[in-house]
Amino acid sequence: MPARRNVYLDHSASTPVDARVVETMLPYFSEVYGNPSSMHSQGRRAEQAIEDARESVARVLNCTPEEIIFTSGGSESDNLALRGAAWAKRHTGRHLLSTPIEHSAISRTLEQLTHIMGFAQTLLPVDRDAMINTTDFERALRPDTTVASVMYANNEVGTVQPIAQLAALARANGTLFHTDAVQAAGQLPLDVQALGVDMLSLSAHKFYGPKGVGLLYVRTGVELLPAQTGGSHERSRRAGTHNTPLIVGLAKALELAYVEMAARTTHYRQMRNLLVEGIMQRVPGAQLTGHPIQRIASHASFVFEGIDSSTLLMHLDMKGVAASGGSACKTGNPEPSGVLLAMGYTPQQAIGTLRLTVGLQTTADDVDYAVNAIAASVQKLSQLKREMIL
Ligand SMILES: Cc1ncc(COP(=O)(O)O)c(C=O)c1O
Repeated sequence: MPARRNVYLDHSASTPVDARVVETMLPYFSEVYGNPSSMHSQGRRAEQAIEDARESVARVLNCTPEEIIFTSGGSESDNLALRGAAWAKRHTGRHLLSTPIEHSAISRTLEQLTHIMGFAQTLLPVDRDAMINTTDFERALRPDTTVASVMYANNEVGTVQPIAQLAALARANGTLFHTDAVQAAGQLPLDVQALGVDMLSLSAHKFYGPKGVGLLYVRTGVELLPAQTGGSHERSRRAGTHNTPLIVGLAKALELAYVEMAARTTHYRQMRNLLVEGIMQRVPGAQLTGHPIQRIASHASFVFEGIDSSTLLMHLDMKGVAASGGSACKTGNPEPSGVLLAMGYTPQQAIGTLRLTVGLQTTADDVDYAVNAIAASVQKLSQLKREMIL
């Protein structure tokens, strides 16, 4: 038995904050603490820091600083995009187009818009790899489709969608196109002109920035009904005093993620491939879920049929391995993954999921340790199950 170690393989749930990001944020807690909306020089220094952050983020996204709204994270950005745009365009049409594999920040907002607010929705089917078909998307666009929302990369199975193609089809139909790019950030290009999207959501804690801060890109001319009303912050699209340190941290983390993207993704891919090879060789019956190639570099996900994912996660935690059963938000929830069901897996299979997401600090020794721990745990749980059946 190898010596116990702690191996964190849950970077899609959250990442540690980069030391350089922490250092950049520190002065904004207790030195530059003024309210960025205040007239005095303390306030103006804070405001300047926020506007510098906005410019830095706009360079990465290839947009203008005015097109960036800082929010409290991915969930808020998704809510603001979908509800805000659907409401602003409610007199033009009331049909919304999305997929059954979106994060709950989108799917629950869609539910509210359809069940309570009188909108109609179409959820496109996905194939066994969680990929949506562009022809299906084109066919589903109606004259009254005002907003379409398709995630860039899936949080549970890592599949990357053809966002530029989908956005072009939406635009040709006069439909606004939003993408949840929370899992894509730091691993895929975010140039909103090349992608052709109207709105895009990001969350800093997925790319070595702090938790509780994100952004929504909104193309000039797109109207949003603000979800949170009050002061005229963020051009009256999101009321509330700016969180200067978090916004500064988000901008620094995003800048670093894109300066270092090639090296980071090469490392992720190497570690991820080692993981996939190890699991497929060592765990009988393991299936890789999601697209084998069109997937984010850090992401591996599996189904172990007959294994209950929450029990497996507890076993792994006792061995020092931090993993996830799908998305962080689903942890502790014994329901089969709706994403896997939409991909055509059976409920029995959709309960046995494991998501392993590597990061900057992941080493080959970590991978080796985790593969051993997973192989031993799956074997033990299968044996226990057989004994219970006998
Ligand atoms: C695809 C996706 N969208 C949105 C979110 C929500 O982001 P936040 O945690 O910043 O609210 C997550 C978080 O896991 C996510 O994976």
